[in-house]
Amino acid sequence: MHCKKIFLAILILAAIPLFSSCREMDTEVLTKVLKDHQMEGAKYVGSKTCAMCHEKEVRNFKLAAHERVTIPMEGIKVEGCEMCHGPGSLHAENGGGKGNKIINPGKNPEMCFACHMEKKAEFSLPHHHPVLEGHMSCTDCHDPHGANARPWSATSMADVNEQCFKCHKQQRGPFAYEHLALREGCTTCHKVHGSINDKMLTSRDTSLCTRCHADTVIVGEHASRIRQGTCFSGECHVAVHGSNFDKHLRY
Ligand code: HEC
Ligand code: HEC
Ligand code: HEC
Ligand code: HEC
Ligand code: HEC
Ligand code: HEC
Ligand code: HEC
Repeated sequence: MHCKKIFLAILILAAIPLFSSCREMDTEVLTKVLKDHQMEGAKYVGSKTCAMCHEKEVRNFKLAAHERVTIPMEGIKVEGCEMCHGPGSLHAENGGGKGNKIINPGKNPEMCFACHMEKKAEFSLPHHHPVLEGHMSCTDCHDPHGANARPWSATSMADVNEQCFKCHKQQRGPFAYEHLALREGCTTCHKVHGSINDKMLTSRDTSLCTRCHADTVIVGEHASRIRQGTCFSGECHVAVHGSNFDKHLRY
């Protein structure tokens, strides 16, 4: 509840969509997950110890949203590297190394779900990226060690598109006739974890386009066409990502 109040206050004061800034964690689930992931006999030692050998990861992590997370657990606070890798005393004492008394969550999303439960539901929607199926992982799009775990930064939406282009080369272009909507990021039209709509669209009808093109769509001769289907179906603007042949993005 406390969490929600702060969230509201921030929202009202700053009037910016900080939708994810205050998340209610299920400490019980978390504690269980952390216990399941524990190395027998290991203790929590804190990120400072990890920094001795993993300087780069610790440095980048300083600005991350995850760096602000603390899990209260039976008298100790779990934070930093060990919130995902579990207690690291044995690994550190043994001189570190691959497969040496430390958990590497690898491509397994369960670790992330411990705190991001609602994401599991999103990936269970009818149209989704195949993370639960094991064909790709959260870390294909999110850097767990980066200053920004999100695939974009506050200053540039281009970053998110770059993540997508790694696998979706067709949408990169370059196109002779670019659709400027893409500069706002792929997430303008796609809900990339999962969606009830085909192609993971945020909306399956004309409202996907009227957000920016209300003027064109409601007036004149063009208005009657809308009744025939969506803007991007049939013989209309099927080249929504850009076209090399037609400036109206029809093919
Ligand atoms: C111990 C709990 C915990 C675990 C485990 C965890 N997260 Fe988070 N994560 C959080 C919390 C809490 C926030 C919100 C932090 C904030 O906004 O201050 C967050 C924020 C995020 C964000 C938004 C970042 C931003 O800049 O706003 C992303 C993306 C994310 N987590 C992805 C992941 C992924 C991927 C994994 C698994 C590799 C993961 N998380 C594991 C607790 C966790
Ligand atoms: C939000 C969860 C999370 C946190 C916090 C986190 N890691 Fe990781 N770490 C992961 C995941 C997930 C992988 C596996 C990445 C993969 O295989 O795609 C990983 C992999 C690693 C690896 C293996 C090499 C690699 O990059 O694949 C090292 C070393 C590592 N982490 C060190 C650290 C250190 C040091 C910290 C603290 C600064 C830290 N991690 C914090 C989730 C996390
Ligand atoms: C004495 C040096 C040392 C310390 C201290 C240390 N590590 Fe490591 N660690 C290593 C080395 C060396 C590797 C192997 C390097 C690699 O593969 O990138 C490694 C590998 C890892 C891996 C990958 C394991 C795998 O099986 O893939 C993780 C995760 C990790 N360390 C996390 C941590 C965390 C978290 C801490 C702090 C609690 C820590 N390390 C402290 C030296 C250390
Ligand atoms: C295909 C790329 C992709 C994959 C795979 C992916 N994400 Fe994301 N994630 C994104 C993008 C893009 C955003 C920003 C969404 C937006 O701005 O609408 C985001 C946002 C987030 C956020 C912060 C905003 C929010 O919706 O709460 C969290 C937390 C998060 N992802 C967690 C995860 C977890 C956990 C996994 C794995 C189970 C995962 N993501 C897999 C691309 C991805
Ligand atoms: C690691 C590779 C990878 C990354 C990165 C990735 N995707 Fe995907 N994407 C896939 C896979 C695999 C599918 C499923 C294809 C299938 O089922 O045929 C998919 C499917 C899709 C689909 C639905 C396609 C269809 O025909 O139904 C859309 C839309 C999409 N991705 C958008 C994005 C966006 C936007 C991003 C960036 C935020 C992104 N993807 C990042 C691999 C990736
Ligand atoms: C202006 C809205 C919009 C934006 C922005 C957008 N898309 Fe799409 N995307 C669509 C629509 C609409 C479809 C479905 C077309 C259909 O059903 O025929 C689609 C379909 C897809 C598909 C499935 C294959 C295909 O072409 O039909 C992929 C993959 C895809 N988009 C990736 C991306 C990526 C990557 C980005 C960011 C670079 C992006 N989209 C940005 C509207 C958009
Ligand atoms: C985020 C805002 C945004 C969204 C959403 C968006 N567009 Fe655009 N679109 C633009 C901008 C900006 C331009 C370039 C300026 C202009 O011509 O209006 C453009 C241009 C176009 C053009 C070329 C203009 C012409 O001369 O014919 C077409 C066609 C188009 N968009 C179709 C679509 C369709 C179809 C959708 C829905 C799938 C869509 N747009 C969604 C922003 C957007």
